[in-house]
Amino acid sequence: MKNKAVTIKDVARRSGVSIATVSQILNGNGDKFSPTTVEKVEAAKADLHYEPDYFAQRMINKKSKTIGVLVPDITNPFFSELIRGIEDVLYQANFITMLCNADLNEAKEQVYLSELSRRGVDGFIIASSAVSNQAITDILRRKQHPFIVLDQKKAEGVSDAVLTDDYAGGRQAAQHLQSLGHQEVAVLMPAHAAANIQKRLAGFYSVYDQANVHVIATALSKKAGREAVPAVMATPATAIFAVSDQIAFGVYLGLAENGRQIPQDYSVIGYDDVEMCQYVVPQLTTIAQPIFELGQTTAKQLLARIAEPTLPWQEQQLAVKLVERASTNNLK
Ligand code: RIB
Repeated sequence: MKNKAVTIKDVARRSGVSIATVSQILNGNGDKFSPTTVEKVEAAKADLHYEPDYFAQRMINKKSKTIGVLVPDITNPFFSELIRGIEDVLYQANFITMLCNADLNEAKEQVYLSELSRRGVDGFIIASSAVSNQAITDILRRKQHPFIVLDQKKAEGVSDAVLTDDYAGGRQAAQHLQSLGHQEVAVLMPAHAAANIQKRLAGFYSVYDQANVHVIATALSKKAGREAVPAVMATPATAIFAVSDQIAFGVYLGLAENGRQIPQDYSVIGYDDVEMCQYVVPQLTTIAQPIFELGQTTAKQLLARIAEPTLPWQEQQLAVKLVERASTNNLK
């Protein structure tokens, strides 16, 4: 014989209180009742192995305990580490992380924003620059959805944001290469770079004269880094600043394929400090972003916004630092 599903009525009968009382207590409003009543209801729930229906509960308290996270490229280890940081905080706060990989595709991002909104997520974390400000206004602001931007998405002064100091990062990379005697440097970065990456270039230019910097358009990928090597070799550069570690890993292969050695022929510096930097030969010198902490800080700030929707906008900036390994060297 099939077991009859336990319902809220059974819990009410067992604990000797009304269905409304059980519903209130199981939906987080236990403070309205005496501790004895709450205990009786909790005990009945446990004895009967009652699991409140998620959707019914959502109808009552209008909370999904879910946060939508939009990233541009989940295959990039920077974003997986970032998501781990986000998830670390959300998990501890009993929230579920709903991940959407946007592939730098504006149409896809828009669909994700609308669908997440329709599914009633409690907040949004947006790390992708392809999300247009129009979509943010139409889908998030009008519906008063809490959200926070970071990394590639600019805050524009009208939302919470967590940033890292990209200008200082670009500057530190340049100072390091200059201190090693490199006069001419190739910078590998996307042609239509997001604001954070443009700031890295601005920081770089605060040290090097633009005439000595050879900017080569490269997507944020290993493949693009590898393919950019012939263009680098056509310049007088003796050092390469890759604006992400992924690009730098591609450069490693590209240089090897062209019979060049790191750091004897070219010094290479990356950006991010993903774990892989320690597992390539030579180990990659890079500008470290506090990636896990960036995720944690962002999630905490969003939870604070959900709890206090009227807080003034907050913008936090985390520091970056040079991690010197074996891929950069003095010019011979
Ligand atoms: O590797 C991904 C890069 O793009 C990182 O530097 C990150 O900051 C991003 O915008």
